[in-house]
Amino acid sequence: MSRRPIVVAIDGPAGVGKSTVARLVAARLGLPYLDTGAMYRALALWALERGFDPAAAETARRAAEAAAQLGLRLGADGHAEILLAGEPVEPRIRAAEVAVATSRLAVHPQVRAAMVRLQRALALAHGGVIEGRDIGTKVVPETPHKFFFDADPAVRAERRWAELRAAGVEGLSREQLAEQLAERDARDRGRPDSPLAAAADALHVDTGGATPEELAERIVAAVRARAPV
Ligand code: DC
Repeated sequence: MSRRPIVVAIDGPAGVGKSTVARLVAARLGLPYLDTGAMYRALALWALERGFDPAAAETARRAAEAAAQLGLRLGADGHAEILLAGEPVEPRIRAAEVAVATSRLAVHPQVRAAMVRLQRALALAHGGVIEGRDIGTKVVPETPHKFFFDADPAVRAERRWAELRAAGVEGLSREQLAEQLAERDARDRGRPDSPLAAAADALHVDTGGATPEELAERIVAAVRARAPV
């Protein structure tokens, strides 16, 4: 009898520390790691490079078609690298203007439908630790391993600031970054189609006072308690 691959869903707002913890959890459980935000960012980059307005309905139609050009390359470390027309999209997708455009583009139901289809197929085929905004509510709602991360907005802004600095991304003040995060969160939470929200059965995790290692331990323990990993 074939066992279904394990899917760990990690949702939460920007800057809450999902990526760092998700990578650690994936490594410990021997599962692939998929950052669905990077997939939305890749589509936004595609639109920006063509001078398309991410808020326009016509852009949504074209971007949903361009989703067919997205590919994945699974690295030896289990990290699924996102490719667009065969080319890696990192680090271009980390620019602040891409983050803002992504949240605008991600509002469109056409874009979301294309992405959810892709992400669900990947999750069911390979399993994985999958982070995003709607993984537990929309992409793989049947998984019992759902986590919703949250932290004080000031803590999240500080963390994202440090991440961007470490990645060499400049051009925004701390205050501007905090404003952008707040705006993006409001849009992600407020959109009618699959907004950022915790699934009813998600385990809530406040990431404020703990290290990534401690958080990863908690997640791994919770997953193991539910499945023989
Ligand atoms: O996680 P991130 O900051 O890279 O995500 C960028 C944007 O993509 C975020 O503002 C909302 C959107 N997103 C989404 O709508 N659904 C997902 N599953 C992941 C990201």
